[in-house]
This record gives sequence, C-alpha cells and structure tokens, in this order.
Amino acid sequence: MKYLVGANFKMYKSQKDLKEYFDQFVNNYACFVNIDLMIAPMTVCLGTASEMTKDSCVHLGAQNMHYEEQWAFTGETSPVVLKELGAEYVIIGHSERRQYFSETNEMINKKLKAALHHGIRPILCIGENLEQKELGISKETLKIQLREALQGIDEVEKIDIAYEPIRAIGTGKSATPEGVQEIHEYIRSIIGNEKSRIIYGGSVNDTNAESLISQPAINGFLIGSASLDPQKFLKILDVVSKSESVKK
Ligand code: 13P
Repeated sequence: MKYLVGANFKMYKSQKDLKEYFDQFVNNYACFVNIDLMIAPMTVCLGTASEMTKDSCVHLGAQNMHYEEQWAFTGETSPVVLKELGAEYVIIGHSERRQYFSETNEMINKKLKAALHHGIRPILCIGENLEQKELGISKETLKIQLREALQGIDEVEKIDIAYEPIRAIGTGKSATPEGVQEIHEYIRSIIGNEKSRIIYGGSVNDTNAESLISQPAINGFLIGSASLDPQKFLKILDVVSKSESVKK
C-alpha cells in the first residue's frame, strides 16, 4: 500500500498564487515511490493546475462535486467536467461542506457512487465534533457516517477515508497519534478491506507529522493550512517518504 498525502487548498490560492506555488513545488518535488500525492485547488483552477503539473507526479483532486452529470443546477460542477479538467481524486463530505452547505450522508452516498462511476477516486471525509467526543460517542458517530455514506457500494476498496475530527481542523491542535491510531483501527474494522487508505487530517504540520505517521494505522494525511506553504508541505512529504509504517 502506498501512503496518500493530500493537500486541500480550500478557498485559498488564486491562479497567480498557484503558479508561484507550483514553480517552487514541482521543481523541488522528487516523486516518492511510497506516496501518492494529491493536490486539490479550487475547482475553477483545475485546468490551469493541470497544465502546471503535467509531467510531474502530482495527482489533482477536486474539493467537491455534484452527483449528477448534467441538470438545471446553477453553480454546481459535474463529475464529467472534473474528469475533463484532470481531477483523479475528489474529496467528498468534508466537514466544512457538511456544516456550511448542509451536506447529508445521503447526498455524500450519491456523490461517492457518481465519482466511482466516473472513475474518480473519492476521499470520503468523516469526523466527530467536540460535543460528540465529550459525550463519548465518537465511534458511534463515525460508524453512522460510514454506514450511511457507503450504503449500497460494493467497491469500497476504491475509496480512501479521511478521518478529520472537527476540533482538530484549522485549530493548530492535532489529535494525538495514539488516539488517531485507535480510531483508524476502528474504521478499518468497519470498512473491512485492506486497500482503502485511512488518512488523518486536522492540524498536521511539519512538526507533528513524524509522530503521527509512525502509527501503523495512519496511511497518510489530508492537509489544509500547512499545505499552503510549499516548503512546509515538502517537509511533510519528506517525513512520510522516510516512514516505513505502512503495510507493504
Ligand atoms: P488543517 O490542516 O488546516 O487543520 O485542515 C485540515 C483539513 O480540513 C483538510 O481537509
């Protein structure tokens, strides 16, 4: 199994910023044999990003998509177009989409099915909020998210899972490596296949990456803030490339 390390740029980086980023990043990034690297810029920048990363080892991803190929849905993006723009991955069900755009597990389930149908590899995001953690229902919450999102999908091995506890996103306070290890083992026991990567997201940076990736059940990262700085992101990739915790 290769690690999966993803950058989620969210609504940061204009086309001009991306050019500066990729000038530094692509020139300094040597392909790592043990890592699949995914970068998800804003959807409107995917075409430009595709041009900038061609002949590199960077795989592009989208941050969201609609489940229909075409319909009268003003402002939405079709999986067909994502594919045309060069997206190989798509992040589905990020907590910011659940929270600010009212995405439900039912919608997420449809999006996963559509992505698989169109040959785009989904990264399904799940995670509990602080209240759920304090109530001691983290695992129950994750189980429901997984069960409903994956309902009727028999190709779960074509989906990667990102565990992103909401309290850890953008706060500078990552979950503990041991805590993430325990949750990832739990997720693995539910999805029941060894091929999906179970990656962690939430304040991963160049200081905590090593202790996190040394946990055997952490198969990579989904990174927000620290991926915006190409030097920091390269440092994290370097740490992951030297880790041998992932299953061969
Ligand atoms: P941060 O790395 O900024 O905490 O964001 C994580 C995230 O939301 C990745 O999808």
